[in-house]
Amino acid sequence: MFVRSCWPLLLSLLFCNAFAKPSTKREVIPRDTGASSNFVTQQGDKLMVNGSTFNYIGTTAYWLSSLNTDEDIDFTLGNISQAGFNVVRTWAFNDVETIPENGTWIQLIQNGTLLINEGPNGLQRLDKVIELAKKHGLYILLSLTNNWNPRPLTDNIQVVDPLSALRLGARDVTPGTNNSLPRGFLSNDYGGMDAYVRQFGGPREHDQFFTNQTLINAFKNFTSQIVSRYANNTNVLAWELANDPQCSSSINASSSCIAQHVTQWHSDVAQHVKQLDPNHIVASGHQGFLCTDCPKLFPRVTAPPPRPSPRAEARRSVLPWTRERILKERKEAFKKTRALAKKSGQSGDGIRIRGRWVSTPTRRQDSGLGSAFDGSHGVDSEDIFNIPEIGLGSFMVFPDQVKYGPDDPNLPPFNNTVKQGQDWIRSNVDMARLFGKPVTMSGFGLVTQPNTQAFVPFNSSVAPFASDSNLAPQTPFATNDQQIDAYQQWMQTGILGGVQGMIHYQWMQPGLTAQPGTTISPDVTQAPTSPDITHTTSSPNDGYGDQDTAPLSSIVQQFAPDFQNRQGTVVV
Ligand SMILES: *[C@@H]1O[C@H](CO)[C@@H](O)[C@H](O)[C@H]1NC(C)=O
Ligand SMILES: *[C@@H]1O[C@H](CO)[C@@H](O)[C@H](O)[C@H]1NC(C)=O
Ligand SMILES: *[C@@H]1O[C@H](CO)[C@@H](O)[C@H](O)[C@H]1NC(C)=O
Ligand SMILES: *[C@@H]1O[C@H](CO)[C@@H](O)[C@H](O)[C@H]1NC(C)=O
Ligand SMILES: *[C@@H]1O[C@H](CO)[C@@H](O)[C@H](O)[C@H]1NC(C)=O
Ligand SMILES: *[C@@H]1O[C@H](CO)[C@@H](O)[C@H](O)[C@H]1NC(C)=O
Ligand SMILES: *[C@@H]1O[C@H](CO)[C@@H](O)[C@H](O)[C@H]1NC(C)=O
Ligand SMILES: *[C@@H]1O[C@H](CO)[C@@H](O)[C@H](O)[C@H]1NC(C)=O
Ligand SMILES: *[C@@H]1O[C@H](CO)[C@@H](O)[C@H](O)[C@H]1NC(C)=O
Ligand SMILES: *[C@@H]1O[C@H](CO)[C@@H](O)[C@H](O)[C@H]1NC(C)=O
Ligand SMILES: *[C@@H]1O[C@H](CO)[C@@H](O)[C@H](O)[C@H]1NC(C)=O
Repeated sequence: MFVRSCWPLLLSLLFCNAFAKPSTKREVIPRDTGASSNFVTQQGDKLMVNGSTFNYIGTTAYWLSSLNTDEDIDFTLGNISQAGFNVVRTWAFNDVETIPENGTWIQLIQNGTLLINEGPNGLQRLDKVIELAKKHGLYILLSLTNNWNPRPLTDNIQVVDPLSALRLGARDVTPGTNNSLPRGFLSNDYGGMDAYVRQFGGPREHDQFFTNQTLINAFKNFTSQIVSRYANNTNVLAWELANDPQCSSSINASSSCIAQHVTQWHSDVAQHVKQLDPNHIVASGHQGFLCTDCPKLFPRVTAPPPRPSPRAEARRSVLPWTRERILKERKEAFKKTRALAKKSGQSGDGIRIRGRWVSTPTRRQDSGLGSAFDGSHGVDSEDIFNIPEIGLGSFMVFPDQVKYGPDDPNLPPFNNTVKQGQDWIRSNVDMARLFGKPVTMSGFGLVTQPNTQAFVPFNSSVAPFASDSNLAPQTPFATNDQQIDAYQQWMQTGILGGVQGMIHYQWMQPGLTAQPGTTISPDVTQAPTSPDITHTTSSPNDGYGDQDTAPLSSIVQQFAPDFQNRQGTVVV
């Protein structure tokens, strides 16, 4: 049992009451009776399949459809399944702006036209991924596009040397740009929203993708083809509209980009997908950013009915996240840790941010809550969650790159990292309770010290890459043991809070076939110190992959049996 003490943090009172009591026996809730379907469906705040509730622990392998051989895909999915996961999240897009000489691609976006590649190095690779996932008992979560797609020489980013291009994690197709990371190595190198913006010749503003009908139609064209292809496939868990959709991106948004534009886009595209494919759930794929003071396009009209079950967590009161509540709970949590720190003589300073997902100050509403809560990112997850066609809530936990709130000055840096993640999980799960839909942690990860060299944040002016150490005080990256400790605590927080799914970011697979012009694979231990990258046989590692997957697998297997088959409360 890992409940070491009361939840020390943001929602301490509520969570303490709910969970601190020792749970020696499992409460078993009778199986839901509902229409039995071979598709994963949403029923109230549950996911159901084959007449039973379905929960998942998954991992991300965005590069799956870019693997060259069926055997490589088979090995990877076999290893993921063996590690205890039951879901794999992957990109269902691979946009290029010119047809590459080698390797796979799914869609050519060029000068305002789209062309889908249905050939053996196109959608047939994705077909194979889905087919082999079934063989290994894995459900597959398909993401339809990406918010990020930097191109150093053509976007807003000034590339001063080849090394900085590597660190920016971008790849330019222009010959001679010295960007030697293979195409598709980084998750942001599969095209996405900014590829449409670049190739449709309109204003070079990221939010054109959300607001311009020409681009919306183009994206709908793409989704039509992908979604209809797999609409009847029971192995697809759900459609994720985009990875990280938000105003900020590799191409700047216009100054008028606001959360409602991103919400409206979700509504529009979700309706489109649901029309083509009523079988599958539609999710967002955003990081869970809130906007407490934003006017809503989809206001919550009635309070959800009280939950009939005797589950402990159901007894918690359901309150909306307001500015006042957040500030009050933060203050109380700090007070508590200060008292504890005083007692034990410990203290800490925990200021960290490595800055991939920095939001632009102009959009900040400055409500004193911080960018994760005030709409700075151009995302209002509450408003998106209440779109009728969105059947599954999502949020992510990446404290190396996102600041979720003020650090607690009474805690050591690593504890702040863990706490920020836990508080963020609780904020999102609590929000989800207002709507009575399932909610999932669709990405979580922590960069480790051995992985620092492979970590490529968008913003290379931030330590550890910054030449100017005054830029941002940095705490060290986590050790391998700390990473696993954090993962364990976050997963536990998620399970206790009542999430329906959790997805690790990202899987790293050894023993693959290295081929030129493919993601397989530079020796990341040499990046970014050497532009002369040699090829190895490991899948991409963007700083979140683990060379040794055994510790990860052991925590997954610790939680998986109870959680994946959970009918009632899980003992952890
Ligand atoms: C649901 O049933 C299908 C078909 O029998 C099976 O392939 C799948 O594994 C089942 N899913 C779960 C989660 O048991
Ligand atoms: C795991 O991957 C390796 C290649 O790295 C492969 O040899 C092995 O068969 C895979 N295991 C399973 C269960 O698929
Ligand atoms: C792009 O498309 C426009 C109109 O559709 C056409 O006039 C132009 O020649 C095209 N440019 C290229 C480089 O193909
Ligand atoms: C979208 O699809 C329609 C019908 O297939 C086609 O006429 C149109 O050209 C496509 N749009 C783009 C931008 O490719
Ligand atoms: C993009 O936004 C950044 C941050 O606000 C700003 O410094 C930069 O000048 C902008 N670039 C362009 C091309 O507008
Ligand atoms: C590419 O690298 C070579 C050798 O380091 C350098 O001379 C050249 O200026 C670089 N080109 C660009 C576009 O960065
Ligand atoms: C919308 O996009 C099209 C194609 O990129 C462009 O020609 C048009 O100017 C854009 N409209 C607005 C209002 O920006
Ligand atoms: C899915 O199956 C249904 C019922 O068999 C069929 O009517 C529909 O056309 C199929 N959809 C696609 C996109 O294949
Ligand atoms: C910090 O975290 C470590 C590892 O999880 C734990 O052992 C320690 O008690 C924590 N310290 C405080 C002050 O919470
Ligand atoms: C990068 O981070 C630095 C330091 O936090 C910040 O001043 C700068 O605005 C960031 N740049 C971008 C493009 O976000
Ligand atoms: C494409 O593959 C061929 C044959 O393996 C190789 O010679 C060539 O260098 C590759 N091209 C690129 C751009 O990687």
